[in-house]
Amino acid sequence: MNFDNSVALVTGANRGLGAAFLRSLRAAGVRKIYAGARDPSKLERTEGVVPLQLDVTSARDVAEAGAACGDVSLLVNNAGTVSYSNVLDHSVLRPFQTEWETNVLGPLRLIQTFAPILAKNGGGAILNVLSVLTWISLPGGPATYSATKAALWSLTNSLRTELKAQGTLVSALHVGLMDTDMTRGMQMPKVDPQDVANSAVAALRAGEAEILADDVSRQVKHALSSGVYLSPPRQG
Ligand SMILES: NC(=O)c1ccc[n+]([C@@H]2O[C@H](COP(=O)([O-])OP(=O)(O)OC[C@H]3O[C@@H](n4cnc5c(N)ncnc54)[C@H](OP(=O)(O)O)[C@@H]3O)[C@@H](O)[C@H]2O)c1
Repeated sequence: MNFDNSVALVTGANRGLGAAFLRSLRAAGVRKIYAGARDPSKLERTEGVVPLQLDVTSARDVAEAGAACGDVSLLVNNAGTVSYSNVLDHSVLRPFQTEWETNVLGPLRLIQTFAPILAKNGGGAILNVLSVLTWISLPGGPATYSATKAALWSLTNSLRTELKAQGTLVSALHVGLMDTDMTRGMQMPKVDPQDVANSAVAALRAGEAEILADDVSRQVKHALSSGVYLSPPRQG
């Protein structure tokens, strides 16, 4: 994808990987970035960055974003949430529903809304932020989160085929642990979200449909054919 004079929309742009995407995309030459956030008043004022009210679970917010951002040629579905409920506990259904609406239905609704806009603007690209947990479920790990990322991976693969004819690149970003609020308190090696955003932007520029942003995601992808998901490594 050519970023010169392009316009992007990043969801969950107020912190973590989303905020890193704002910096990477500006550095790559993107002219304007709509920074989607549930509370856009929290966003730092930066040249070229336009704060946008966008709760990805709100059909109304997504429709208003589509009406207001007709110049977008890159959509980054970054916003995500995780819960650590026990998958055998009945109480898991409520947090699972929130994860499902945020991590699956939100990105899908955004893609449905923005696909015609991307087509009008020459094709462009969609980046869906997935995870190494798309492919494996860790013992005692966030099982329902893994399920949502696996679902979005499957949709990503379908949408890549669906949107090929209009010239839209649909790309998936996989990564292991990043040092963001989402992993606060986990004492494990983590990668810098800025490095991940920089790699992802470089890969989008090169037109890559799958981005493996760290060693963990590369190793797990490599081990899929040997059945790593049948006996995943223990955490810690
Ligand atoms: N951290 C990791 O180790 C890791 C690894 C692999 C993949 N990922 C993925 O990377 C992406 C970014 O995560 P992160 O690590 O940067 O996490 P984070 O620091 O917890 O940030 C999550 C972002 O998503 C936003 N968000 C959550 N629900 C939303 C909603 N309904 N509407 C709009 N925005 C919403 C949050 O906004 P608020 O400030 O309003 O809550 C925040 O901006 C996620 O898709 C996550 O699944 C993370």
